Amino acid sequence: MSDTLDFEITLTERPATADERARVLADPGFGRHFTDHMITIRYSADRGWYDARLQPYGPIPMDPASHVFHYAQELFEGLKAYKQPDGSIVTFRPYMNAARMNRSARRMAMPQIPEELFVRAVELLVGTDKAWVPDTEGHSLYIRPNMFATTPTLGVNSPASDYLFTIIASPSGLYYPRGVKPVSVWLSQDYTRAAPGGTGEAKTGGNYAASFAGQAQAVEHGCDQVVWLDAVEHRWVEEVGSMNLMFVYGSGSNARLLTPALTGTLLAGITRDSMLRLAPGLGIPAEEGKINVDEWEAGCASGEITEVFGCGTAAIISPVGHVKGSDREWRIGDGEPGEVSMRLREELIGIQYGTRPDPYGWVH
Ligand code: COI
Repeated sequence: MSDTLDFEITLTERPATADERARVLADPGFGRHFTDHMITIRYSADRGWYDARLQPYGPIPMDPASHVFHYAQELFEGLKAYKQPDGSIVTFRPYMNAARMNRSARRMAMPQIPEELFVRAVELLVGTDKAWVPDTEGHSLYIRPNMFATTPTLGVNSPASDYLFTIIASPSGLYYPRGVKPVSVWLSQDYTRAAPGGTGEAKTGGNYAASFAGQAQAVEHGCDQVVWLDAVEHRWVEEVGSMNLMFVYGSGSNARLLTPALTGTLLAGITRDSMLRLAPGLGIPAEEGKINVDEWEAGCASGEITEVFGCGTAAIISPVGHVKGSDREWRIGDGEPGEVSMRLREELIGIQYGTRPDPYGWVH
């Protein structure tokens, strides 16, 4: 049974020295450095999941005909491990990542991985490389599960029959080196991220590959991030960069939260889900709905919309301060992160770092 697979463990003969690790942890950045080990598990249509290993981090020999290089059958996930005040280490909602990987796998005609196996693999890697989990406030160990098609064939009539599941881990500082500062965003009219019936709700590399041209255009227009609009009418707001978007209406005890509903073209973010559950607990009603760019602009002009932020595992919360399109431009707030955004951020971070109670049972 693949969910009771035993891992063959091979520890590296050349782990990073304490000094090397300390140098990395002093300024980890995001996704630049990797821990000493990695997980690999193979799959074939005949055998199911097999050959589970924890092994030294390093290159993986790949046949150049591997299906993934040609037809992009690929999925990934992202979650983090956090050091707690008592020195123990937790991950945040790992079963949500396992379940999302399996939903993505269904869309990409790839195999299901037993959730228990996914979570055991995360635990094994984090436990082995626990010295890499940062102590610094706001830093964490970013964990990147990945699955890709290895069958060496150029045939495209059916999905691959062989896959490799891997997990690597990377100490992570702030996703945006400037910290929690409001970003400017570009309303993309030339490019869309996802269309109905497409792969927008799957966490597959192709969605990110397709986003780089739009992101480059945002930068050409002097903006930090791109806002993705719907592919049909080009006016319904979907996501920002690789994050979900949240709109705050009103302020103080009248504040409420709105996020675009999951229509099939948006990624079901785990931070998004956490915000939708945390906000009501803080007395901030939260709903999923629709908002178009005209409503966004008018809401900011009238003062009804007070804050907007992107949210995702990597950056947690990224306030949006300025919106720019080909024929319009407007500001949100006063250039500082909003009160509701920061309150939600503090609450979530408190749960993740163990400085606040976790009534939801999210930490693992
Ligand atoms: C996240 O916000 O966690 C993301 O998906 C970004 C990641 C692709 C770096």
